[in-house]
Amino acid sequence: MNVKRLTDLIAQGAVAGKRVFIRADLNVPQDDAGHITEDTRIRASVPCIRMALDAGAAVMLTSHLGRPTEGEFKPADSLAPVAKRLGELLGFAVPLVANWVDGVSVAPGQVVLLENCRVNKGEKKNDEALARKMAALCDIFVHDAFGTAHRAEASTYGIAQFAPIACAGPLLAAEIDAVNAALADPKRPLVAIVAGSKVSTKLTILKALSSKVDGLIVGGGIANTFMLAAGLKIGKSLAEPDLVDQAKAVIEAMKARGAAVPIPSDVVVAKRFAADAQATVKAATDVADDDLILDIGPQTAALLAKQLMSAGTIVWNGPVGVFEFDAFAHGTETLARAIAASPAFSIAGGGDTLAAIAKYGIEKDVGYISTGGGAFLEVLEGKTLPAFEILSRRAAQG
Ligand code: 3PG
Repeated sequence: MNVKRLTDLIAQGAVAGKRVFIRADLNVPQDDAGHITEDTRIRASVPCIRMALDAGAAVMLTSHLGRPTEGEFKPADSLAPVAKRLGELLGFAVPLVANWVDGVSVAPGQVVLLENCRVNKGEKKNDEALARKMAALCDIFVHDAFGTAHRAEASTYGIAQFAPIACAGPLLAAEIDAVNAALADPKRPLVAIVAGSKVSTKLTILKALSSKVDGLIVGGGIANTFMLAAGLKIGKSLAEPDLVDQAKAVIEAMKARGAAVPIPSDVVVAKRFAADAQATVKAATDVADDDLILDIGPQTAALLAKQLMSAGTIVWNGPVGVFEFDAFAHGTETLARAIAASPAFSIAGGGDTLAAIAKYGIEKDVGYISTGGGAFLEVLEGKTLPAFEILSRRAAQG
């Protein structure tokens, strides 16, 4: 895909003294006290910022954090913890600027962080007036938010339409290059792990993957819906019964190709969702009405680990259990260690997945770690993400 790249603009000397607006994805997980629990995305944003600063640009940086209500800023929506962490990584304080849409004061060699862009009215719906205002703040718009590349919002899409120049930052460029290179002709069998609690947002993607992968391992809330589809009881576990028919369609599509969605044969259950809840291993057929399934069982984990060990390519998105609680982490740890030990080329993406990778210290044993969650999956699905569509359209305009 032909897009302008920041590196090319710098090589052309087109960035010095210019106002550069970087859209990063700094949407990082936080604990209840607002402390950042995993900072990969912040660290991944640093090369682009440094590159622009070193080239003599006046740098404005923004991101969304969570899904706030537009026009109703709350302290929990603030990028303040991100500004602090970014300052530590860059070695100097990064000022945080609120109410920035109508003007930003920043000099060449400086960087300012613009407060959560999703608090601006019209952001989500890619409002043209908002996008034009943002575009007017800069000479060059740099899209470096791979994690948000699947969204067409004012700070990711509209601004790219109206900014004088729009280009891809180094992270966005590297992500798409790596994912495409790895998946254009994957070594088979290709096994995907799609897990986590976002059942409804991932089921359609599962459907698309079911025509491409040789094995589709499901976990978390998604697995519960598949267990329902397989006729199993799941007690009061998280699931979306409305999507059972779609889960069945995925199972059938895989079957028709001689591939499979392995349904857990055993699970780890508890009576309540808590770190200190009593964990009980049960056969998948024995789940009681008041049970909550919080992990796959050891038999299932061992079987899936074996499958991963003989894979050619592994795509991993999502932990298969509540790995934050040690009693329910065994399934995720077993799969993580199998991915690390497998000779397969592995690609992993998604916030929770990155946290699991960090928890088990297997960063160096994963082939490529993406900063994208939904964006990562949509790329796997073969979609052209809005970020690349608009950037290549702008590049074609010259
Ligand atoms: C993510 O965490 O996947 C990205 O930051 C996108 O967030 P969103 O799903 O709220 O758009």
